[in-house]
This record gives sequence, C-alpha cells and structure tokens, in this order.
Amino acid sequence: MIDLAVIPVAGRGTRLLPLTKSQPKEMLPVAGKPVVQYVVEELIRSGVHRMLFITGAGKTAIENHFDIDNELIDSLRATGKEELLAELAFEREDADYFYLRQRRQLGLGHAVLCAEPFVRGQRFVVALGDSIIGRGSESKIVKRMVDLFEKHGDVKGVIAFEEVPRDEVFQYGIAQPGRDHGEFFELDDIVEKPSIEDAPSCMAVAARYVFSAEIFEYLRNTQPGKGDEIQLTDAIRRMVHDKKRFLGVPLSPVETRYDIGNFESYFTAFTEFALADPTYGPAVRQHLKKLLDR
Ligand code: G1P
Repeated sequence: MIDLAVIPVAGRGTRLLPLTKSQPKEMLPVAGKPVVQYVVEELIRSGVHRMLFITGAGKTAIENHFDIDNELIDSLRATGKEELLAELAFEREDADYFYLRQRRQLGLGHAVLCAEPFVRGQRFVVALGDSIIGRGSESKIVKRMVDLFEKHGDVKGVIAFEEVPRDEVFQYGIAQPGRDHGEFFELDDIVEKPSIEDAPSCMAVAARYVFSAEIFEYLRNTQPGKGDEIQLTDAIRRMVHDKKRFLGVPLSPVETRYDIGNFESYFTAFTEFALADPTYGPAVRQHLKKLLDR
C-alpha cells in the first residue's frame, strides 16, 4: 500500500511577484480554496493519507491552513455562524500532516531528497503543491498510478504526463516514450526543459510521480542541472539509463492540469474554477458574458 505523499512547497514563486512576496503561491486562491487544498483533497481521494510537505521560508500559512483551529470554530459558534463550520470540514479529513524544511533552495530534486529520512525505504507519491489536476472530484490520476506501480513488481517509478504544444516543451520535463500499452507507456528516456529542437516528444511531466525509495540513491548523486538546480528529472533519467523500469501515464481528458506557477495559467485556473462554482458560478458567467459581448 502506498500511503505517503511528499508535497514540495518550498519554491519562492518568483514568477508570481508581487503576489508571492509574503504569501506562499500554494496558498493562492483558486475560486474558493487555496491551491494546496485541492492537491491534498485529490490525494485523499486517491487513498493517500499521510502528507509530508517540504516547506521553506515564508510557508507557515500552509501549516496554519491544515491545523484544526478550535479558536475559530468556537468563535463561529459563539457568533451564530454555524453554517460556516462546513467550510472547515476539510480540517477533519482522514489525513495526517507532517512538515519538513528544505533549508537551502537547491531545486526540486533536492526538496524530494530532504524527505529521505522520513520515507525510510517506503514507496511514495510526489505531488507538486502548485498544480491542480482535474476540476471537482474527477481526477484519480494518483490512484491509477499507484495501482499500476503495485501491479508491476519490477517498476521503480510511475510518472503522469500530458501532451503540451511543441512551443512549450522548454518549460517541462519531456518523455521519450517507448512501447505503448494503451493505458501507459514505457519511459525510454526523459529530459528536463529541452529546447524545441532537442525535445524527444511533446509529453510533459505533469506534477505527479510515484517512486520506489531507490530514487534517493540517485538524487544523492545528482549534480545541479538546468537552472543550476538539482533536478528530479535528471535522477529519473539516470535510473532509466541504468535500465530501471519507469512507466508513463497520460492524463485523461477530465484530468486537465492547472498550473499556478505563472500568471497566465493562474488567471485561467481561477476563471475556470470560479465559473464551475455551484453557488457563484452562474452569476460570474453572466457577468463575463456581458463583458465579452460589449
Ligand atoms: C517541474 C519539473 C518539470 C515538470 C513541471 C510540471 O518544473 O521540474 O519536469 O514538467 O514541474 O510538473 P517547474 O515547473 O518547477 O519548473
């Protein structure tokens, strides 16, 4: 059983300044909830109940968000606002939360490596805290990935992929897919943020991974790569070159990835989620329509 997710949230979010100057990008609102709450809810839906956040400077709002806030609960009761208690129901989800600090900003690979003493040889999920997969309750991508991992005893990792336009490949880890099995493919190679000319395909790493603990051995020996950071993709690449078996799972059509890492995708995500809100969506839609028809 795979019950642990490592959620890296240490990145400074510089592409979203000034929004992220004093608040974590993972706490930015997407319609009615902060980004990271969607990530945690998705993991719980997929059967993962232990969340290990890899945090860094300025990220305490994430810890506060998942605490049980009895003071707030009491004050809502005392002031006759019981109906708002429903908005805090997520605090009672069946999940445990752990926080570990990445003391130096050395990249995503290093953030995951920080989890090693906690993971202690288990298999685990990595879910990037700034990406939502699917809207509403549709996405169970992590469940599909975990099932595949458990079905294929020789597999060292399973990675989610989405097809991106060719002119965007330089922003992602890109797969060289091997044999296609329909629901998944063999990963023959992977490269972090290649140029358009060097990209082996348009299949981009989509913020969700499942690993065996062997990834740590490789991460420990991974030198800084793109952006002078220790890249998770580089460790995976060396494992694949050593004939360790990795599988790629394409996102299904309902499993759109909403990336909160830059303004364009953040604005898009906010708009889509606001439009889908059961209470406020219809009014927002009307208003937008009016604006667009002007
Ligand atoms: C990271 C990974 C990259 C992946 C992307 C989206 O990049 O390094 O391989 O494709 O997340 O999941 P970042 O967006 O942090 O630069």
